[in-house]
Amino acid sequence: GNKIRNAKLVLLGDVGAGKSSLVLRFVKGQFVEFQESTIGAAFFSQTLAVNDETVKFEIWDTAGQERYHSLAPMYYRGAAAAIVVYDITNAASFTRAKKWVQELQAQGNPNTIMALAGNKADLLDERQVPAEEAKAYAQENGLFFMETSAKTAINVNDVFYEIAKKLLQG
Ligand code: GTP
Ligand code: MG
Repeated sequence: GNKIRNAKLVLLGDVGAGKSSLVLRFVKGQFVEFQESTIGAAFFSQTLAVNDETVKFEIWDTAGQERYHSLAPMYYRGAAAAIVVYDITNAASFTRAKKWVQELQAQGNPNTIMALAGNKADLLDERQVPAEEAKAYAQENGLFFMETSAKTAINVNDVFYEIAKKLLQG
């Protein structure tokens, strides 16, 4: 087959959690140590083949800075999927991630596929958020959960692949 499914995807999460870095890794296979903080939002697209189908992700990489919070609904409304990102070395970013999940549950589309990504998994020595805690939270709230590293690429494609599979199932 040659079906192409377009899917709007949004990344949400605290400043510095690694949203842009995850997108850069997924779209361009690159990582930069000094990624600039996003202003407003940035758009990318990338296709992913799943069996004989293709998902074309239209990706909105939002800005984590609080002053841009009011823009977020423009990006998550109508989104087929959302990736809520926190930094495993920053407990406050996990608290912020839970707030995003609450906002999506209250204001977003109930059909949006939600993923929780605990990023910077390469920095195990600095871990502040236990994987078990995040996993339990994700299960309770109907998200799927992965720890990722934009730096080493671990689980980055996997998050998008899981989303693509769920989209095609639904
Ligand atoms: P805002 O755009 O401000 O909301 O931040 P963001 O969530 O887009 O974070 P960004 O991708 O800009 O990453 C912030 C910093 O963390 C950058 O210096 C990245 O290099 C670093 N970083 C991102 N992902 C990882 C990772 O997986 N491991 C490590 N060690 N550093 C990372
Ligand atoms: Mg960014």
